[in-house]
Amino acid sequence: MPDTAQPIHLADYQPFTHLVDRVDLTFRLDPKATRVIARLNMAPNPVRPGRHDLRLDGEGLRLIRLAVDGRPLACQPDATGLTIPAGDLPGGTFTLETEVEIAPEGNTALEGLYMSRGMYCTQCEAEGFRKITFYPDRPDVMAPFRVRIEGDMPVLLSNGNPVAQGPGWAEWDDPWPKPSYLFALVAGDLRAHSDRFATRSGRDVALNIWVRPGDEDRCAFAMGALKRSMAWDEETYGREYDLDVFNIVAVDDFNMGAMENKGLNIFNSKFVLASPETATDDDFDRIEAIIAHEYFHNWTGNRITCRDWFQLCLKEGLTVFRDQQFSGDMRGHAVKRIEDVILLRARQFREDGGPLAHPVRPDSYVEINNFYTATVYEKGAEVIGMLKRLVGDDGYGRALDLYFDRHDGQAATIEDWLKVFEDATGRDLAQFKRWYTEAGTPTVKVFEAWNGGEAGGTYTLTLAQVNPPTPGQPEKGAKVIPVAVGLLNPNGDEVVPTQVLELTGPVQSFRFEGLGARPVPSILRGFSAPVILDHDRTAEDRAFLLQHDTDPFNKWEAGRALAKDILVRMAATDAGPGTRWTQAMAAVARDGSLDPAFRALCLRLPSEDDIAQTLHAAGHVPDPARIHAARRRLALALAETLGADLPGMIAALVPPGPYSPDPEAAGRRALGNQLLALQTRLDGGEAAARRFAEAGNMTDGIAALASLLEAGRGQAELAAFEARWGGDRLVMDKWFALQVAHAAPGDAAAVAERLVAHPAFDWKNPNRFRAVIGALSANHAGFHHESGAAYRFVADWLIRLDPANPQTAARMSTAFETWPRYDADRQGMIRDQLARILASPGLSRDLGEMAARLMG
Ligand code: PHE
Ligand code: ZN
Repeated sequence: MPDTAQPIHLADYQPFTHLVDRVDLTFRLDPKATRVIARLNMAPNPVRPGRHDLRLDGEGLRLIRLAVDGRPLACQPDATGLTIPAGDLPGGTFTLETEVEIAPEGNTALEGLYMSRGMYCTQCEAEGFRKITFYPDRPDVMAPFRVRIEGDMPVLLSNGNPVAQGPGWAEWDDPWPKPSYLFALVAGDLRAHSDRFATRSGRDVALNIWVRPGDEDRCAFAMGALKRSMAWDEETYGREYDLDVFNIVAVDDFNMGAMENKGLNIFNSKFVLASPETATDDDFDRIEAIIAHEYFHNWTGNRITCRDWFQLCLKEGLTVFRDQQFSGDMRGHAVKRIEDVILLRARQFREDGGPLAHPVRPDSYVEINNFYTATVYEKGAEVIGMLKRLVGDDGYGRALDLYFDRHDGQAATIEDWLKVFEDATGRDLAQFKRWYTEAGTPTVKVFEAWNGGEAGGTYTLTLAQVNPPTPGQPEKGAKVIPVAVGLLNPNGDEVVPTQVLELTGPVQSFRFEGLGARPVPSILRGFSAPVILDHDRTAEDRAFLLQHDTDPFNKWEAGRALAKDILVRMAATDAGPGTRWTQAMAAVARDGSLDPAFRALCLRLPSEDDIAQTLHAAGHVPDPARIHAARRRLALALAETLGADLPGMIAALVPPGPYSPDPEAAGRRALGNQLLALQTRLDGGEAAARRFAEAGNMTDGIAALASLLEAGRGQAELAAFEARWGGDRLVMDKWFALQVAHAAPGDAAAVAERLVAHPAFDWKNPNRFRAVIGALSANHAGFHHESGAAYRFVADWLIRLDPANPQTAARMSTAFETWPRYDADRQGMIRDQLARILASPGLSRDLGEMAARLMG
């Protein structure tokens, strides 16, 4: 590993030695030699008394000129920055000027200033600004920025409000002090889809979504989502937008989803561009959620930012929580909650149970880019959901008001965040804080006791929590776990409505008195805490809850648990699918009183990875081939149960009228396409081939194609799809990914191998790389095929990508995080690949840290 790979510790935090009062930047754009002239007005930081050297971060910059108060200095940069000795600095305020040269064209890491298909753009979070100019590149240094851009491009954008422009130049001013990670610049031949929004205090905001010529007609949905987000944040959190313009730019080459730069959000184009012909219902959903997420950062992230990167969850956990609330309000809370929990288990529980487990607020890191994780984001949001449940909606509202009042304009910490809750509600959160500092998914074991009597019986629920060891944290304390519980009587009526039990000790009992009969409990309603519930239940109880539970999450969860019980048995023994789950699901599928989107979620079987996770937790060694076979067999059993009814059901679900991505129509398509997948198991793909040929939108087209590929067909359809969409990058990503995702276990690596030889495979584009290599690691049985071919293939590509784009290579190495679950052969093969990665010459700090942690 490189020698910059020294861990950084939260405990070592110190405020910066100096303050930056304002920043003036001038860019002279050139693909090979961009000049960046920076003028920083600085002063010693009074909280760090004494005279200090000034250390500026800077990487890959050619220093041309350096001056303090106009006096040239001869200091030379080292590999990571520039030190100006205290003796060369005046005691009070001063102006530091630097001029550097950088080469955006050669920047394949997509961090700093880079080029994406002829357009200049930036990505500065977390530490990309140091690749643009010398600067204290840390979030607690906040300053107003003024930017002048000179370049031969029609559109020149930066943060804040436009000040002036002429041919070949533009000036921008951002009055809100911000850290460098929120800086952005875009220059290119772009077209705007424009609109306006009037804030409730009367500010008239110009909204623009900037795209390549030709993409203008794919922006309307994102624009609508932006306006809905702006209105929602005013209504729900009392937060208004604070500049005269809000710009969004769609970029094809982007490492992540999107970035909340002040007044100039930059998006991966797949999370902006959508039309019915090119985007699926899921794409529309994600676009709305991500537009909202980035917009909400304007307050939770930008106006109030993070003191240091250990506090990342302060902005990310809260902003995810807010975007989840928003999506629930837009599309229905029941379905949204179930989808969020599916994702949480698939990504965060998986992470928390393996070698990469870390607290929501980590206390050390080597490369911060490796900590943009499901734990920081999704578990970070869950922790806020628990807080809200514990203090109530009113308490939450008061705490958030206080947070915005007290910390506006500051770089804050998790301690600050918890303190506003304590001050607003009077609740002591010392124990609750463990959710931020301790990793691992707690297990809550459930024990029931019933004591019947004349005057009514007593039901006792005993809950015990186990907090498993995680890397570096062998022991941990009990958590505060809000467990939402309701009780049903044997007729299915709710006799005790939802109440929140607070589990704070290792074991606690809760009594319910005066009950007429032994109740059936519905525990952890709404998934009130991110824990694993260990409750030995009969299939009868699960089927009963599936039928009667008033809590939609637990109604779904009952069916899910039933499916998991069966799949675990089928994969671990020679058991067959039985009829209990299939009968219950056939009833759900036919139940017209249930929302189609909810029914679709019930019918969706747990993923193979989820089944492997469950088997492992139950003490089995998962066999990927058996899991794959069991899951197919159970799906076939359901298809046979619905049998001849399927075509009629599918036809009845087609939404009337032209395509619209609204939740109602999308729900009908989701259920209809799931039934089509079942139908394909019976007719070998006849109906799916017809649906593909007739599909008037991408949702139906992709669903039909996926069904065909599952059935081992679809080659002609793939060719037709390519002929139609070969020129469209986003649509072709789907074409690549689908083939790998639905390849049979023994073929998956070979399919991926064939696709990387396709002329349209561009491995430097992160979306395309993920479409093939990412899809292979997500094809559970294919990735873990006993040949080990997929392990080798993925490792080869990570090694190849690493020198060009370490951040994406490192993220994708999480494919290997589940190795401890599997048998000795697979463990050995995966560890061999990790060792090979670790031994690669010139390995990046990013991938180096990941491979080392993965090895354990
Ligand atoms: N801050 C971005 C978000 O959550 C994510 C991101 C991180 C994007 C790092 C780019 C680089 O919205
Ligand atoms: Zn975010």
